[in-house]
Amino acid sequence: MKINFKLNGQKYSLDVEPYEILLEMLRDRVGVKSPKCGCNRGDCGTCTVLLNGKTVRSCLVLAIEIDGAEITTLEGLMADGKLTPLQESFLAHNSFQCGFCASGMLLSTTELLEENPAPSKEEIKETLSGNLCRCTGYTPIIEAISDQAERRNKIWVS
Ligand code: FES
Ligand code: FES
Repeated sequence: MKINFKLNGQKYSLDVEPYEILLEMLRDRVGVKSPKCGCNRGDCGTCTVLLNGKTVRSCLVLAIEIDGAEITTLEGLMADGKLTPLQESFLAHNSFQCGFCASGMLLSTTELLEENPAPSKEEIKETLSGNLCRCTGYTPIIEAISDQAERRNKIWVS
């Protein structure tokens, strides 16, 4: 079946099998490597992508389901080759060690800050409850997000 979709702002048209999984299609056929396969059953969040602006676990989505949709991966967050302020905040807080969870964390946080520009630490924790990190203990990740939310709100208020 032929599907048409936008990935990180670029149009694609691809023949897919009815059983083809979005995560495999992105990594193996399109060559987008930021979504990772951690558990392949919806538990770890490393395969997270934005589907029309909402996070989904791409290991649980069929490729045919994205016909006509817009997909954003970590590669699509940057503009003009520059990291976003959120990415800079993660770097400044040394939020990652191995980085395997980074793509999913950043996309989940991107969705959160779109919907709730001033999340509490509890709301951040709730949002990231489906994104597992085996390295950091989460503290530097949550601090990076809180810090970025505070900076944004200061800019908006001033
Ligand atoms: S690989 Fe999809 S949630 Fe773990
Ligand atoms: S930094 Fe290694 S899994 Fe999160």
